[in-house]
Amino acid sequence: MNWLNLLLMAVLSLGNLAIVVAVLNRISTARVHLSTLSIIRRSHALFIIGFTLALIYQGGFGRPRLLFDGSWLDIAPIYLLYFAACGISAIFAAVIVVRRWFYRPPTALLSSHSEVIDVAAVLGKQPLAAGRYHSLAKLPGNEIFKVEIGTKEIQLPGLPPAWDGLSILHVSDLHFIGTITRDYFAEVLRRGQELGSEMVVFTGDLLDEQHLTDWLPETLGQLSAPLGCYFILGNHDWDLDPDATRKCFRELGWIDVADRFTTVEHAEKKMLIAGSEYPWMGNNPDITSAEEVDFRLLLSHTPDNYPWARRANFDLMLSGHNHGGQICVPGIGPIYTPSLYGTRYSAGTFYRQPTLLYVTRGISGKEPLRYNCLPELTQLVLRPTTVPSSQADKKRKLIGAKT
Ligand SMILES: [Fe+2]
Repeated sequence: MNWLNLLLMAVLSLGNLAIVVAVLNRISTARVHLSTLSIIRRSHALFIIGFTLALIYQGGFGRPRLLFDGSWLDIAPIYLLYFAACGISAIFAAVIVVRRWFYRPPTALLSSHSEVIDVAAVLGKQPLAAGRYHSLAKLPGNEIFKVEIGTKEIQLPGLPPAWDGLSILHVSDLHFIGTITRDYFAEVLRRGQELGSEMVVFTGDLLDEQHLTDWLPETLGQLSAPLGCYFILGNHDWDLDPDATRKCFRELGWIDVADRFTTVEHAEKKMLIAGSEYPWMGNNPDITSAEEVDFRLLLSHTPDNYPWARRANFDLMLSGHNHGGQICVPGIGPIYTPSLYGTRYSAGTFYRQPTLLYVTRGISGKEPLRYNCLPELTQLVLRPTTVPSSQADKKRKLIGAKT
């Protein structure tokens, strides 16, 4: 047995896995309907398993006999080319994992306090019904009902000092599908309302079954805030009847900021609140006609719009969509994240001037699976910081960018 070649074959298999997953993650960002995506997701496993089996069976035991006395030079150049790509991909994947080990949140994240609530224990029952993916929900160790509810203090250079302590409850990715029952969402959001925020925002993916808008009054309908409740929709809502869903939100008194903006005044200072459902619906909002404001908040379903938000000079961007990857492998982290940037923005706090991005793991998902990646409901508490006046002046002169 040639153990070195066996090791190389294992590395190539991992590299192939990284390539297939990277392609799948990027395909998932396009305006592709979920039924098509589901077929692509199911078939991608064939590429991964098929490659490894073919490599061992054909390459190891077949004519090149790599597992015995064969040579890689006996393999056709076209295959060697792909093997080289797999090798490079495996190295890239290893670098990404090592960088993750040493990642530290930006200093703008001042503090984080949270509590994990086992909603099933609180309710005295598993809030489950016989809906789609029911069998996944019952897998051993699945943490779908253990919700991390907490507060994060973030420091923002553009925040008016008069708004010190302003709080935003960030709700995202409820994914009503009927498998996890309404009791779960009602309990989580009841606790969110108890946090007493000045503003509530929802960053998309309410539904996977259109008729479950019926759940809105007893779930999101519990939420209220002095500065209002604002929403955008997500790609799962786009796949159903988004106009009907928007109507239900509006009937609750929520303000639709998708592909548009509004302003709210607080302590004699003005905040612009804009929303983006791009690329599934509309565009990134054109804010060039906006009046002069003191602070800009963007709700964007996908964090992939972060570069645009930075160009448009938003102070804070809130996103969901990636669910933290839903499954985080110990020592490796998330693998599947539907983002142009792979797993980089799967969840967490990111700061690149002038925009702070917060990506929540969301409260649920279409597939009821959570391993090492708890559902999340977070209240953000904003703190001001001082910046040199020249930098602040320069910042205010920047104008909004178009998509
Ligand atoms: Fe989602």
